[in-house]
Amino acid sequence: MSNAASADPPSTASAPRTSATPLALVRGEEAVVTAPSAAVGTASARRPRRRSSAVLGLVRTVASRALEDLDAAIDRDPAASSRAEVLLTSPGLHAIWAHRGTHALWSLPGGRLPARVLAQGVRFATGVEIHPGAQLGRRFFIDHGMGVVIGETAEVGDDVMIYHGVTLGGRSMLSVKRHPTVGNRVTIGAGARILGPVLIGDDVQVGANSVVVKDVPVGAVATGIPAVVRFPKRTADNQWLDPAIFI
Ligand SMILES: CC(C)(COP(=O)(O)OP(=O)(O)OC[C@H]1O[C@@H](n2cnc3c(N)ncnc32)[C@H](O)[C@@H]1OP(=O)(O)O)[C@@H](O)C(=O)NCCC(=O)NCCS
Repeated sequence: MSNAASADPPSTASAPRTSATPLALVRGEEAVVTAPSAAVGTASARRPRRRSSAVLGLVRTVASRALEDLDAAIDRDPAASSRAEVLLTSPGLHAIWAHRGTHALWSLPGGRLPARVLAQGVRFATGVEIHPGAQLGRRFFIDHGMGVVIGETAEVGDDVMIYHGVTLGGRSMLSVKRHPTVGNRVTIGAGARILGPVLIGDDVQVGANSVVVKDVPVGAVATGIPAVVRFPKRTADNQWLDPAIFI
């Protein structure tokens, strides 16, 4: 917070602020309006440069996120041999990238209908249906794509991988949080259904064709219909088997 305060333009220090004045208006926007004319000239000269550097920053972020998505796909798909191959042949990744656009559109005034229409086009092209309202984390990867459905209030963490036929669906007809929340580094096998506002903990593995209707704790493996939770067998890598902890 202190950084944000120090970043305020000096001219705002004397700007009147009543309890009804939003903080954003007391900052940059109002400074432009109330500044002396010489300063206004300087500010307007600076504006296009600021805008172009903002656009450049956005392009850089989009490009670096796209590269990390491609690399995540290569890491998780043994059949993928290069970024170019994933770029050209991964419907799951195409659907995720399109969703980043429809999700941004969804949050704009009047953007909901166009976002839904575009998402339907993406579904037609990729076989992956992601509601524009769904929140997806970074380096998310959908292998094979076809038949995936992700509902409006679903939330997915970072480094999650799902296979074809997965549903993150609802069990309620009410317009409330009704889809799953999936943690980080979760893998969801082909054809699995996770239904309702359940919590899937970090590092969980959901077996192919399982149906999950209850929360799954961190690090568990959930398989079957309805899914039964177990914890992976201890290995030499497992910290609880490290004799050092008993010393
Ligand atoms: C769930 C999963 C991650 C478990 O992997 P794992 O920990 O190595 O499990 P194991 O192979 O040691 O099997 C452990 C037990 O779970 C059972 N099991 C494994 N996967 C299962 C599944 N999807 N449904 C029901 N039971 C399953 C095994 O039969 C075994 O049972 P047993 O102890 O009675 O013999 C894995 O089996 C899975 O389903 N991965 C999804 C892969 C996928 O979707 N691939 C699509 C590629 S296109």
